[in-house]
Amino acid sequence: MNRASPMGNAPAPPGAGAFLQAPDARHLLGLEGLPRDTLLDLLESAARYRDRLRAHDPPTGELRGVTVCNAFFEDSTRTRVSFELAEQRLGAMHTSFSVSGSSLSKGETMLDTLRVLTAMHVNLVVVRHRSAGSTAFLARHLEAGVINAGDGEHEHPTQGLLDLLTLSDAWGGRFEGRRLAIVGDIAHSRVARSAIFGLTTLGGEVVLAGPPTLIPAEAESLGCTLAATVEEAMHGADAAMALRLQRERMDSGLLASLGEYSRVWGIQRERTALMKPGAVVLHPGPMNRGVEIAPDVADGVESRVLKQVENGLAVRCAVLARCAAALTEES
Ligand code: CP
Repeated sequence: MNRASPMGNAPAPPGAGAFLQAPDARHLLGLEGLPRDTLLDLLESAARYRDRLRAHDPPTGELRGVTVCNAFFEDSTRTRVSFELAEQRLGAMHTSFSVSGSSLSKGETMLDTLRVLTAMHVNLVVVRHRSAGSTAFLARHLEAGVINAGDGEHEHPTQGLLDLLTLSDAWGGRFEGRRLAIVGDIAHSRVARSAIFGLTTLGGEVVLAGPPTLIPAEAESLGCTLAATVEEAMHGADAAMALRLQRERMDSGLLASLGEYSRVWGIQRERTALMKPGAVVLHPGPMNRGVEIAPDVADGVESRVLKQVENGLAVRCAVLARCAAALTEES
């Protein structure tokens, strides 16, 4: 990845910043405020892990002696499984916790549940929760390192990193002067926020497009530009990211109909032709085919959806190794 930048080692531009705290390498709570060199180090480390995965290198013992608990208070396929595989590959002792069948149904709080887990000598917790700020709250109250696996509408930093690695592959390692169009439900998207913080820190541009009811009020203060239409956003872009409509986080009445949404805002084949030659299409998953992305685009030559998944495993190896190393340095 190219490190020369007029921006030096500047932090990400300030956004809402409600949960921003001084970076502590034990934790990964968000990409907001992470210095450029930290982002690049993580991406380079992830690329090395990916080489090892592709070469079918045997699992390593880098995390031997480290115990990790994956605490998922919300559903997940990609994030949870890739953290579990990364922990196994690095030789950590690990366990996974999900709400179903837990003592949360008996009234135990999230913090008490996490205190119970860390009392069992868990060193790192990987947490997904529907409440924005939950992982920053836990980081203030637990001895363990906390890795944010998606907290409400706030951030999904490992998704942001895997998106950056995928873009770096497509863009020859240069982010400066490149433009990503993010289309859809920006207002409810922690994926969009992490991508915005990461890419703008590395010198890229982000243009947002979506129904006005799904564009957050602070979009421009996040350092993005707004486009009135999906065509305007994708015209001349180096990549486009389609976002899932997050109906679980929406109040009613924000959308007229899924059919109209698809027609007006969907990433469809003819719209991809507006981008630069060689531009790529990303989707964090899970996809709603035929709604935010047409099936022939999801499976088309420009799609990097499964590359994102592969990069997710490598990124989670890099993040676990970084957080575990910081724990070791402290002790
Ligand atoms: N992109 C993402 O976070 O997917 P999961 O919800 O399956 O983890």
